[in-house]
Amino acid sequence: MLPDQSGTNATTKSPESTAGRWAQIGQRVRAYQHKNNSGHVPVMLDEVLAYLNPKDGGVYVDGTFGTGGYARGILEAADCKVYAIDRDPAAIAKAKQMADEFNGRLIPLSGCFGDVATLLRAANSGPVDGLVLDLGVSSPQLDEAGRGFSFREDGPLDMRMGSSGQTAADIVNNASEQELADIIFEYGEDRAARRLARRIVAARADAPITTTRQLTKIVHDVLPMHGGHKTDTATRTFQALRIAVNDELGELDRALAAAPALLRAGGRLVVVSFHSLEDARVKRFFRRHSGQQAAPSRHAPQQHQAQAAEPLFTLPVAKTVAASDAETAANPRARSAKLRVAERTHAPYEGGVHA
Ligand SMILES: C[S@@+](CC[C@H](N)C(=O)[O-])C[C@H]1O[C@@H](n2cnc3c(N)ncnc32)[C@H](O)[C@@H]1O
Repeated sequence: MLPDQSGTNATTKSPESTAGRWAQIGQRVRAYQHKNNSGHVPVMLDEVLAYLNPKDGGVYVDGTFGTGGYARGILEAADCKVYAIDRDPAAIAKAKQMADEFNGRLIPLSGCFGDVATLLRAANSGPVDGLVLDLGVSSPQLDEAGRGFSFREDGPLDMRMGSSGQTAADIVNNASEQELADIIFEYGEDRAARRLARRIVAARADAPITTTRQLTKIVHDVLPMHGGHKTDTATRTFQALRIAVNDELGELDRALAAAPALLRAGGRLVVVSFHSLEDARVKRFFRRHSGQQAAPSRHAPQQHQAQAAEPLFTLPVAKTVAASDAETAANPRARSAKLRVAERTHAPYEGGVHA
């Protein structure tokens, strides 16, 4: 059962019939994705549709197009427009193919969602009714050994979602021991960060570390796998490097900060995150800009004090929404998913909010 819908952009349908409708669209999209071998099952799609509540004539932004599951769901739900952003050229190629199906209603935008304001301005979008972010990597990115995201497959130590910038190998081979320890500790939350960094630096003195297998072996030397481990001990180091390579938290902060200016009153920001570092940022931003946090110090910049007086967002759901038991049973990736939603108020935007 989908959560109650009480937002200003809710349709006139009763929550139950509306929930049934989202589930039907979600089911159709998942079946389409499966039939067309997209390789990715969109996580919490029914809930994303319920909270975005697409309406005819609306304008939505899918900041993480991926294989297009969310975008397809939104376009099927209403006669609306979707701007589809992705930094991965392979995802944008897919969006361009899909655009033919939707007669100009799907507009692919190649780039980073951290630059969403610039991308939308260049596309003359005007204010939008919804922005959704489904954070992290898509299954095709994870499954393609050549992208270097997975410790399960051997491949080049790359991990870039886009096609430019430093690779994981650049970081592993060039960062100082202290920088490596900080990355693994902060982004991987691995308590063995110092030992791992030391071992990486020792290993690269013999030969550059260029493959996922080499890095996995180094981590396993420090943190051997044994029967008691439910997850691979290399998971955290790989997550840390991926976050660093793609500046994932900086991207998220920039997109959150851009949202108040982009959304029209009643428009919604929906974020699906997969680890606590992401969710903590979304939570903090939502609380800060929905008046649920203590007023900022009188020494804070004036614009912050004005925003605290008149919140930019309300929170239709106070906490996170998790995937249903049925979804987590069918798709293990959904287990760690947390959805948060905020709705833009009429409060004037003074500019310069911080994530
Ligand atoms: C989890 S997948 C999204 C899946 C999508 N919801 C679907 O139904 O297919 C995340 C996608 O977001 C993209 N991505 C991640 N961070 C990005 C960023 N900062 N800017 C643009 N795209 C990003 C990735 O390249 C990937 O294609």
